[in-house]
Amino acid sequence: MKRYKTLAESVRFRREHGTWKPIAHDECLSFGGEGRSAVVYRIEGTDKALKVFYPDKVHIAKEEADIYKLLSGISAFPALHESGGTYIVIDWIDGKTLFQCLEEGIDIPVELIQEADKAILAARKRGLNPSDVHLRNIMVADSGQIVLIDVARFRQTKDCMNWEDLKTAYTHFYTKPFFPKRIPKRLLNIIGVMYKKRLLPIYWRKAKGIIQHP
Ligand SMILES: Nc1ncnc2c1ncn2[C@@H]1O[C@H](COP(=O)(O)OP(=O)(O)OP(=O)(O)O)[C@@H](O)[C@H]1O
Ligand SMILES: [Mg+2]
Repeated sequence: MKRYKTLAESVRFRREHGTWKPIAHDECLSFGGEGRSAVVYRIEGTDKALKVFYPDKVHIAKEEADIYKLLSGISAFPALHESGGTYIVIDWIDGKTLFQCLEEGIDIPVELIQEADKAILAARKRGLNPSDVHLRNIMVADSGQIVLIDVARFRQTKDCMNWEDLKTAYTHFYTKPFFPKRIPKRLLNIIGVMYKKRLLPIYWRKAKGIIQHP
């Protein structure tokens, strides 16, 4: 098999309308997903994922690799296999993000939320400050296990309420019988933007003390 570094170098990007788009990659790589910092591929014939950072985000590769080393041994985080200047290689997770679960109407039982909570606590015990834990950064493996990916911001010092707010939304909305279990992608994206702009009722209710974090 080709070296991970060679595979990472095969990924080429082009800037389009202010975002990076992957325009070429080795045939051993199949697209897995993309985010604000990187594109992720499965290395075919293996259970490994190659995360290649965009040209202006390559500094994150070392930071994320260092954090994965600190999380080593906690089963809810993928293991790190290698890292280089522009990439990391971690376990490939066969499964879906919580975002995809909502989009497809796949039930998210409370046990998964509890497992994710335990993983976040375990990360805190290792001196980290889990941040940026959002619906696309939490996966449910086909085995049923919860896996937290994208740990690059786990050492930031600023407190991030994402996970606490997700848990609040889960308890106060998702579990209610009237709440739809399937939400179209466009609406989920709109909710995400409104959340960032603090325009969701969760903020008003929190401000009035109607909602407290579970
Ligand atoms: N190990 C993995 N196994 C399977 N799919 C993955 C894996 N890592 C990432 N993905 C997919 O790729 C997407 C982007 O990955 P990731 O969240 O690591 O990128 P990012 O650019 O750091 O994201 P963000 O926008 O949250 O900063 C994920 O939402 C997920 O769908
Ligand atoms: Mg992400």
